[in-house]
Amino acid sequence: METLVTGARGQLGRELAYLINKAGRSDECLFASSEQLDITNPSAVLETVQRMQPRVIINCAAYTQVDQAESEPENADAVNHRGAAHLAAAAKEVHSLLLHISTDYVFGNSGSHMPITEQTAPNPMGVYGRTKLAGEQAIRASGCRHIILRTSWLYSAYGSNFVKTMLRLMHGRPEIRVVNDQIGSPTYARDLAAAILQILRSGVPDDKLGTYHYCNIGACSWYDFARTICEYAGLSEKCRVLPCSSAEYPTKATRPPFSALDTTTLRHTFDLSIPCWQDSLRGMLSDLSELS
Ligand SMILES: NC(=O)c1ccc[n+]([C@@H]2O[C@H](COP(=O)([O-])OP(=O)(O)OC[C@H]3O[C@@H](n4cnc5c(N)ncnc54)[C@H](OP(=O)(O)O)[C@@H]3O)[C@@H](O)[C@H]2O)c1
Repeated sequence: METLVTGARGQLGRELAYLINKAGRSDECLFASSEQLDITNPSAVLETVQRMQPRVIINCAAYTQVDQAESEPENADAVNHRGAAHLAAAAKEVHSLLLHISTDYVFGNSGSHMPITEQTAPNPMGVYGRTKLAGEQAIRASGCRHIILRTSWLYSAYGSNFVKTMLRLMHGRPEIRVVNDQIGSPTYARDLAAAILQILRSGVPDDKLGTYHYCNIGACSWYDFARTICEYAGLSEKCRVLPCSSAEYPTKATRPPFSALDTTTLRHTFDLSIPCWQDSLRGMLSDLSELS
């Protein structure tokens, strides 16, 4: 078997499945949901990887509930840190490449508004970011062949995410308020899935292993993002989108005020072209209308 995809029922896992099916290559992949393979179980991980001997493991499994993680640090750590470590140990054992997904939330408040490069030192602000950073560190320490892709503000027609929540609220309310003081780069999970497949097609020679940043091009606040969703979905007459501050919308986990990622190194290394977030949002809305 060529590829093992963990966490296959999540947004990114399903986008990968969509693209791989479309390319007629699904018989080369095992798409394992959390029920088929629980990455917190080291013996199940090792047994599956030894049996399959995959060339590549794509880890889409994660504990992604950022606020809930504050009251469940053990659960978040079990998946995001130790689960990643189990996969890395198994990948090392059978010489698989581990392609792991991490997050902009490994960065905290740098005080700067320059897109964040791979050279920037991480300083997570909450449990989710800390456990994802610990996962990255465990993968590097394992000595397995790996690529770590940090991404941000992921959305898809599959699963729950900001775009789908906004559409639901915009259909039901005359007015919504969205924070205007957190800036980042929205990323369509289908674009990330396509980038992963292009990276893998390169064969990933040893001098290209390492940590990279991937997000759609451009940055905006959640408020700008919501206003654009409203406009592109043709809902501007139905719902007014108003700005508010993070102080007016307190959450359990503190979010970084600026977490746009610099994708220059990834684009140059793998000859990737990345769409801007507005074009990708249009694409996702059109995919969503086809699904419903
Ligand atoms: N969502 C974002 O905004 C965002 C932003 C930056 C980075 N990321 C990163 O991008 C990656 C993909 O995110 P996503 O949005 O696709 O996540 P998602 O939709 O929440 O999917 C995560 C998947 O992981 C599975 N999972 C949880 N615990 C598991 C376990 N113990 N064993 C195996 N699978 C398990 C879940 O299974 P169930 O379906 O059974 O729950 C779920 O299908 C993650 O690494 C995430 O940290 C996400």
